[in-house]
Amino acid sequence: MNPSESRSDDHPETTSTRHSLDPHLRRYAARTKGMTASEVRALFAVASRPEVVSLAGGMPNLAALPLESLSEQVAELVASDGLVALQYGSAHGVPELREQICDVMALEGIQAHPDDVVVTVGSQMGLDMVTRLFCDPGDVVLAEGPSYVGALSSFAAYQANVVHVAMDDSGLQPEALREALAAAERQGQRVKFLYTIPNFHNPAGVTLAVRRRSEILEICASHGVLVLEDNPYGLLGFDGQTYPALRTQDPDNVVYLGSFSKTFASGLRVGWVLAPHAVREKLVLAAESATLCPPTFNQMLVSRYLATHDWQGQIKKFRETYRERRDAMLSALEQHMPAGCSWTRPDGGFYVWLTAPEGVDAKAMLPRAVTARVAYASGTGFYADQLGSRQMRLSFCYPTPERIREGVRRLSGVLTDEMELYDTFGPAAQNAMSGPQAPSPDTA
Ligand SMILES: Cc1ncc(COP(=O)(O)O)c(C=O)c1O
Repeated sequence: MNPSESRSDDHPETTSTRHSLDPHLRRYAARTKGMTASEVRALFAVASRPEVVSLAGGMPNLAALPLESLSEQVAELVASDGLVALQYGSAHGVPELREQICDVMALEGIQAHPDDVVVTVGSQMGLDMVTRLFCDPGDVVLAEGPSYVGALSSFAAYQANVVHVAMDDSGLQPEALREALAAAERQGQRVKFLYTIPNFHNPAGVTLAVRRRSEILEICASHGVLVLEDNPYGLLGFDGQTYPALRTQDPDNVVYLGSFSKTFASGLRVGWVLAPHAVREKLVLAAESATLCPPTFNQMLVSRYLATHDWQGQIKKFRETYRERRDAMLSALEQHMPAGCSWTRPDGGFYVWLTAPEGVDAKAMLPRAVTARVAYASGTGFYADQLGSRQMRLSFCYPTPERIREGVRRLSGVLTDEMELYDTFGPAAQNAMSGPQAPSPDTA
């Protein structure tokens, strides 16, 4: 028995105990060390209780979907094309859908050939496959700080080292990118790609300024670094505005990820990768070994929906809903938040990124927030290096405007108490509050 196992017997609540109870512990591959439950996922159970206003999750609001006509489409699909829709398909994806995906991407200026599109099980699978293709253990991936938690977990699963690049209200900072690349070169590290979410960033809520886009592409090209552009929110600009995709400017050095999760239905798990021709070949092989093929039925349903429904009108409805919710969140933050807090003002997407003053530890505060019946995603989960302790992601996509206002009001109360304690007792306040009496999110 190793020391950590014997220690854990004395402390039944520690992580090492959970591991020592696992009879397969010694069998796992080294890469599983990077596989830990995300803080966001751990929150789901608590945050879904009705009395808690959850500003934590990123679930799209599907209430506006035309369910009746969709159920007719499902029935028709089975009746008319069932033997194809319920059968295996190609790893590349249904040809008609790949053509339609090109029409969707054209809304952001992308001109692509359907052959270069690979349909995936959500863009999450695209992230996984691209990382699998490019990253050996120890390779560096550059990513905005903060970054999307699902991407960080894919990078960790392939043992890539994430180096964060600073952002401001105009997105990724070109100068910080230059510095990160120079530092990696000095240290002899291999940087494989820059992972970026240029539009309506998750979690930061900011958009990469158009004037920075070509500069960032030039920097990456001059260092021989690929760009992985992740764009699930690009059509959710609240004024209907779109921004030119990075892919439009450098098709040979950008791999682009798209998704129907935010503009149609996340449960169908249909996304795609648009890749330079050579990469696309490898992606199809990687996709085949992962899933044989993406679900034919779901792809054909999305294809029918795009062909027969006013999908752009539907996206407009989504945008209007999210804009109303964003407005509710921003006005409640203005009204209630204590002085010293700052936050981003997204013009699309799902998220506001809030920074609290020094002394606030958002992760330690979370159980107290849940006791006050509000949940958020604490900032550290969005960094690979434990930064972000004073920050939190507030999602406005799912709760109604009333719930959002109430949630922000509750959160402001918790933050105000926290800041008062810190002002009175200094860092000692934090230690006292995070003692055993503080309820965990699972027990509050
Ligand atoms: C930035 C970003 N990329 C990718 C994904 C995964 O989306 P999908 O449902 O297409 O797998 C999400 C989901 O929230 C996201 O926010």
